[in-house]
Amino acid sequence: MTVAHQPADAAAQAIAARAQDHVDAARLAAALAALARFGGRDDGGVSRETLTDIDLAARRHLIEQARALGCEAGTDDCGNLFFRRPGREDLPPVLTGSHADTQPVGGKYDGAYGVLAGLEVIAALNAAGIDTLRPIEVVSWTNEEGSRFGPGAMGSSAFVDPARLIGYRDATDPAGIRFGDALDAALAASADLARLPMARPMSACVELHIEQGPVLEGAGVPLGVVTGIQAVRWFRVDCMGTMAHAGTTPMAVRRDAMAVAVAIAQEIYALAPRDAAAPGTPELRLTLGRWAVTPNSVNTIPGHVAFTVDMRCLDDAALDRAEAALRAACVRHASAPEAVTVTRFFHRAPTHFPEAMLDPIERACSRASDNAGRARPMRLTSGAFHDAMYLADHCPTAMIFVPSRGGISHNAAEDTDGADLFLGAQALAYTVAELASR
Ligand code: GLV
Ligand code: MN
Ligand code: MN
Repeated sequence: MTVAHQPADAAAQAIAARAQDHVDAARLAAALAALARFGGRDDGGVSRETLTDIDLAARRHLIEQARALGCEAGTDDCGNLFFRRPGREDLPPVLTGSHADTQPVGGKYDGAYGVLAGLEVIAALNAAGIDTLRPIEVVSWTNEEGSRFGPGAMGSSAFVDPARLIGYRDATDPAGIRFGDALDAALAASADLARLPMARPMSACVELHIEQGPVLEGAGVPLGVVTGIQAVRWFRVDCMGTMAHAGTTPMAVRRDAMAVAVAIAQEIYALAPRDAAAPGTPELRLTLGRWAVTPNSVNTIPGHVAFTVDMRCLDDAALDRAEAALRAACVRHASAPEAVTVTRFFHRAPTHFPEAMLDPIERACSRASDNAGRARPMRLTSGAFHDAMYLADHCPTAMIFVPSRGGISHNAAEDTDGADLFLGAQALAYTVAELASR
């Protein structure tokens, strides 16, 4: 996709500055605290997996908040929620937002911050009395996390390519519930919302998110201009064995699915340090996050072990090598052709955001941090994937990051300084207002 370079527009920047100056830290903090109560945990985290009853209640809460700001609420065939502030002209909107679902044990800010900061931008524009040329839409994407139904970023990827939705509908959660059935229930619960077409034209998309890693905090920088997202692949490995008695079955005659799975897992873990041995290569990151053992009994030899592999790297060629090594290890450890199978269920090459989007974001971040007497923004890449990864296929897209304390996320302890959350929302307001004014 090519993006025409927009000449600096003084009028658009003056509007953007006014929008930035009307962001309200206390209003944003209250909105974050209110949403965090949906699925709030005693340890300070949030458990709000996609399309659960708690998520559906949170979605109703967001709809009410957006309507109170004067937005029209709509949804689409994948249950994505869109909150629209009309423009002076009916042009393709500027889109911002993120996701409101969490990991099984997540934090208050992963995703929720981007959605609520988007609504704060609307509140700031209202307070400043600004009517933008283009409409602005705040989106809350369905199932970004991918923990309940795989893959992740279902809502945003189906929005940009609706043909994907048919396959997603058959995904099941660990209790055997189909994504399609959970989605239909969510759509029935939001029957009062306008049904919007998928793949609607958008003029630009900006996603604000916590970094979820240690880079900004380590550099002492409150705002990051995100230049791209590393590549990701997800696999499921199924190892078949024969259930048998743990006490009576001699070691030599066992077909132990766990022994095979552990041998493959050890080979996979060895890939990362081997890959790192090549100088100058970006780090290969490997996670074997979900295991299912059948029958999961202390005194029965496992008859079936299934585990997932999450591979990430900025360099897609490293993932080609890792995938080939995973497949070779599975063949080598299989006692029979069907005894070990590998299924890739998520695959995304690296994303590169266009310079024409980084330019207004850099301007927005610089103004916010200069006014606060903080360090200037830095450029960085994202280790996590985000909905912006798919929107980048659809319209000029980029992201803004704020620091994560200790680099921790996908954990109840996830946290970001209130002053940094405020600066991120200010940077978002400037960026969205500038883009919506030209
Ligand atoms: C998003 O949640 C990711 O796993 O990167
Ligand atoms: Mn997220
Ligand atoms: Mn996440």
